[in-house]
Amino acid sequence: MTDALPPKPTARADRVSLLRYLRLFREDILSAQPQRLYRAWMAEFRTPFFRSFLVNQPDLVKTVLNVRPEDFPKSDRLREGLAPLLGNSVFVTNGATWERQRRIIDPAFEGGRLREAFPAMLAAAEAAVDRLAVRADGQPVEIEAEASHAAADVIFRTLFSIPIEHEVAAEVFGEFRAFQRSQPLVNLAAFLPLPRWLPRPHGTRARRSASRIRQLISRLTEERMASIRAGTAPDDLATKIMTTPDPETGRPFDTGEMVDQVAIFFLAGHETSASALAWALYLLAEFPEVQARVAAEVEALGAGSLGFSDLSRLSFTRDVFREALRLYPPVPMMVRQATRLEQFRDRAVPTGSQIVLSPWHLHRHTRIWENPDSFDPDRWKTEDGRRCQRDAFIPFSSGPRVCPGAGFAMIEGVLLLALLVDRFRYETVAERVPVPQAQLTVRARDGIWLRLHERRHASL
Ligand code: HEM
Repeated sequence: MTDALPPKPTARADRVSLLRYLRLFREDILSAQPQRLYRAWMAEFRTPFFRSFLVNQPDLVKTVLNVRPEDFPKSDRLREGLAPLLGNSVFVTNGATWERQRRIIDPAFEGGRLREAFPAMLAAAEAAVDRLAVRADGQPVEIEAEASHAAADVIFRTLFSIPIEHEVAAEVFGEFRAFQRSQPLVNLAAFLPLPRWLPRPHGTRARRSASRIRQLISRLTEERMASIRAGTAPDDLATKIMTTPDPETGRPFDTGEMVDQVAIFFLAGHETSASALAWALYLLAEFPEVQARVAAEVEALGAGSLGFSDLSRLSFTRDVFREALRLYPPVPMMVRQATRLEQFRDRAVPTGSQIVLSPWHLHRHTRIWENPDSFDPDRWKTEDGRRCQRDAFIPFSSGPRVCPGAGFAMIEGVLLLALLVDRFRYETVAERVPVPQAQLTVRARDGIWLRLHERRHASL
């Protein structure tokens, strides 16, 4: 571990007016929060519209996510906020609908299926290396965009067996960027239970992008349904999901239900992985001695012939990726709703309150982690690191609503990181220190800029 600390947004002053808070919140939910949340077990926010409780105490987080998740569902407002893009997808539903969706989706992400998806991931990782090879001239490269490109490629190849260059995949990816740019209020929509009379925060442009994305995904899904019926479908994740009957009712997804799920796989599965990968590369650029250890680990295994079973041997690379997920959790906060009166610590939490779980604060909690703001991948091999992993590490959430793509993401992230570090050496750009900011995921305000050099040429 070194003394330098990776970038962290400045917290706001402890007391601000509601209007100022909403304005800050709209810009970035991370810097809108006060410093005390890094050491508080719980904090309450009262506004005229809603009461919300941020919960950092590990056993309370477990109560909400693991012990009684049915008492803390996602709110209807969340669904409304994301409906134009996500419809009724598994990310926003609750109760019986959600249970049915998970029964069909989960088998597609089991270990055996991930092994089958590995060659498609590897092809995407190799394509990412090729794309970057022409940019490895020491000039600054915006690595977030490259990471998004790579992660979108992984999703399309594993789900639909098509690369990102495919006409439909490329258009979904492009529209998605437009959606994000025109949807700056998505944070607000997703997190604040604003009164119904306030205009819903979807711009016309965002609605148009969302509807185009859904149209394109419908096309892919309908074509796939036809090829499944014709017996010509490739054996990928889409085919697996679309041919899995719900074990309880025997009914598989219809095309409409599948469109909703594909939309969330694309959204949840590429933005998040891209964010984690970009921050991991930034951290390696900032800490060259750690970068050299990753490169040595990959070289010892032979990057050219990396197979699925080799991944378990990239244990330091995995610890680096995990440390990036700790410091920059792609999903920085999650919101639930209390459906009955609760007693949390010494406080009454009224029915209808928002419960905010914050991986961002929990992962940097000063009373849980040793040197919480330091980049220290070796911490994961220590007894204390393992304790923290059990108690206060939830980049993929936890409990029944845990991210179904967690195993997928850990394979994808470690694989991409390994191949990208094996081929290139990364350096920070002095005048461009990234400022973390929560957009749909944790991104840098003006991108993450790095200089790339061919590793082997450099050492000749
Ligand atoms: C580094 C990468 C990823 C991270 C950090 C991540 C994180 C998360 C988190 C924190 C949640 C819970 C959100 C909440 O409860 O409010 C979640 C849910 C979800 N994720 Fe991921 N995810 C990643 C990759 C993926 C991938 C690759 C896929 C699929 C291909 C995926 C699909 C989903 C879905 C469908 C849900 C909704 C599950 C439900 O509500 O039952 N994610 N993810």
